[in-house]
Amino acid sequence: MDLTSRVQLHTGNEMPVMGLGTWQLTTNTAETVARALELRYPMIDTSGDYGTQPGIGEGIRRHGARRSDFYLVTKVEETDDAYEATKKNLEELGLDHADLMLIHRPPSSGPGDELWRGLIRARDDGLTRDIGVSNYSSDLIDALIEATGEVPVVNQIEWSPFGHDMALKHHSDANGIVLQAYSPLTRASRLDDHRLRDIGEKHGKSPAQVLIRWNLQRGTVPLPKANRKEHLEENIDVFGFALDEDDLRTLEDLNEHYSSLGTLPYV
Ligand SMILES: NC(=O)c1ccc[n+]([C@@H]2O[C@H](COP(=O)([O-])OP(=O)(O)OC[C@H]3O[C@@H](n4cnc5c(N)ncnc54)[C@H](OP(=O)(O)O)[C@@H]3O)[C@@H](O)[C@H]2O)c1
Repeated sequence: MDLTSRVQLHTGNEMPVMGLGTWQLTTNTAETVARALELRYPMIDTSGDYGTQPGIGEGIRRHGARRSDFYLVTKVEETDDAYEATKKNLEELGLDHADLMLIHRPPSSGPGDELWRGLIRARDDGLTRDIGVSNYSSDLIDALIEATGEVPVVNQIEWSPFGHDMALKHHSDANGIVLQAYSPLTRASRLDDHRLRDIGEKHGKSPAQVLIRWNLQRGTVPLPKANRKEHLEENIDVFGFALDEDDLRTLEDLNEHYSSLGTLPYV
């Protein structure tokens, strides 16, 4: 596995195995994105409500990346008209299509079939190659599929050794849905955990690199965010080592359904 590796989506399209998160990357966004592309980050994750889309577009243009050099994920909000919001996001980014559009969160009532129909239309009109969801439980995904017949390619959720749910992973695998891991570094709140540090020391790697590698080896797709240059560099230097079975077991045992939001919305 390396930075050019791809995961297969059920539509036949492919997605990179990791990407850059950009929530709160509102300082020097263009410079950071241009640097990430220089470092060969293959994917960028954003949302209509992050305020980072214009800076991401500027970073892409500054770097001179071709459209095929990067995979772009963005999201519509639960109160949006999904089709119109997709067009607005693309305008802010200065792109003619996204690779993946997500419903950011399920609306308070029901699975969001109206939003989903808007994204299906956006996909059919070529505004995005694939469509998916974020923060969805298994029940909500089942309800969305039942209402529309369309299976999301991705569910983007908070996911780390400290907070994850294998029942959701099994449900996703059974439906051919790939899990993207947000807050994969626990927003830096658990990086000093001694069990994590011990595994890192064994491999000559940092706690953040262990967390990213855990996702890569488990088939979930991490989206670590980093403003700092040294963090950007460290977080993609994860392809030259492998966690062993003991490490993976120790990491699974850290699960306490931890969430930087308070509770994991999908459990
Ligand atoms: N769909 C959703 O509802 C949802 C929700 C939350 C997040 N997300 C997505 O997932 C992305 C990642 O999640 P996140 O931003 O919440 O948190 P995260 O990636 O878990 O953590 C980011 C924090 O970790 C620090 N950091 C990065 N690399 C590090 C390293 N190697 N060593 C030590 N500290 C390091 C960053 O510092 P610096 O920035 O100072 O470098 C930042 O403070 C978001 O940016 C967003 O794209 C989606």
